[in-house]
Amino acid sequence: MASLKVFCSFLVMALLSSTLCMAFPGFGFGWGGHHGGGTFSGLFPEYYGFTCPQANDIVMSVLKKAIADDPRMAASLLRLHFHDCFVQGCDASVLLDDSSAIVSEKNAGPNKNSLRGFKVIDEIKAKLEKACPQTVSCADILALSARGSTVLSGGPSWELPLGRKDSRTASLSGANTNIPAPNSTIQSLITSFKRQGLSEVDLVALSGGHTIGKARCATFKQRLYNQNGNNQPDATLERTYYNGLKTVCPKSGGDNNISPLDLASPVRFDNTYFKLILWGKGLLTSDQVLLTGNIRKTMELVKSYAMDEVLFFHQFAKSMVKMGNVSPLTGVNGEVRKNCRRIN
Ligand code: HEM
Repeated sequence: MASLKVFCSFLVMALLSSTLCMAFPGFGFGWGGHHGGGTFSGLFPEYYGFTCPQANDIVMSVLKKAIADDPRMAASLLRLHFHDCFVQGCDASVLLDDSSAIVSEKNAGPNKNSLRGFKVIDEIKAKLEKACPQTVSCADILALSARGSTVLSGGPSWELPLGRKDSRTASLSGANTNIPAPNSTIQSLITSFKRQGLSEVDLVALSGGHTIGKARCATFKQRLYNQNGNNQPDATLERTYYNGLKTVCPKSGGDNNISPLDLASPVRFDNTYFKLILWGKGLLTSDQVLLTGNIRKTMELVKSYAMDEVLFFHQFAKSMVKMGNVSPLTGVNGEVRKNCRRIN
């Protein structure tokens, strides 16, 4: 019965896609990669229903152990999916190592000495290659790991469209330009998300990913010592929080020292991140400006999510699906890598 259901949904999706393709050529209904942004992406949740029904179980079993050994790993894996999707779409380009054909995104400013979790992805890929050779893409592994990490940290789950293929290219310059900087203004955050087809609602909800994980001093030090070029701290930083951060991040050196993005519950996925922003305890400029940036919409959303965790969870799940649909490669575009670090 269950496999009949899987078969039917596969059939319906395939028929729908090809029918729409024929009816509206050039409108992007098909399997070809295009901008996701909430539109029909060609991905669907039962994609591996026949070819690798145990895919999610394998991902979850590796995640459980990795996160038990290192609770921060959940945050690192969630972030990997974000850094993948913002650079030429969710195509696992972020996982490619340097080679004669590839200039790796791993050396881009936002990624170098910063992204973590590559070995966990390798372990998941190795297990999946054993169970279902050359079937589950690295891009889908990133999407499944982001969802699994959220769930294992106490956050929401969601129905996850699958069927992404892996790129045969990477873009170092794309990583440098498309991934927003921690000292961004609210306007540049909005613009950067818009470029990916993501709204202000998505920006605020997805920033809630900072309810778990840590950041290096290098990413917020400016706020402590010279926020506006006048050798003064950021006036929006709450005083005791500011004093605490100064002990972790001295004026010179210590750039790789780390501080939790959500100091109250750093490994728990909850809505504390938004409460902290209301108290002037957002760690990055990009966190605090959601409230202080003078954009009514983002300001109100921070307040709503701080008051209502159910609302935050609901929107986070929706926005993660939307981010996961950004320009996927599908069908004959791209490939399923055998090793996530290199093209086949
Ligand atoms: C809104 C724009 C964003 C900016 C400017 C930003 C910036 C940053 C920075 C600077 C760090 C610390 C990196 C380091 O210390 O090397 C970080 C960490 C993190 N980011 Fe973001 N981020 C943004 C959006 C997102 C989104 C959309 C997600 C996921 C949905 C996310 C998830 C995370 C997580 C989980 C961590 C902690 C990673 C770890 O502990 O390994 N971020 N982010």
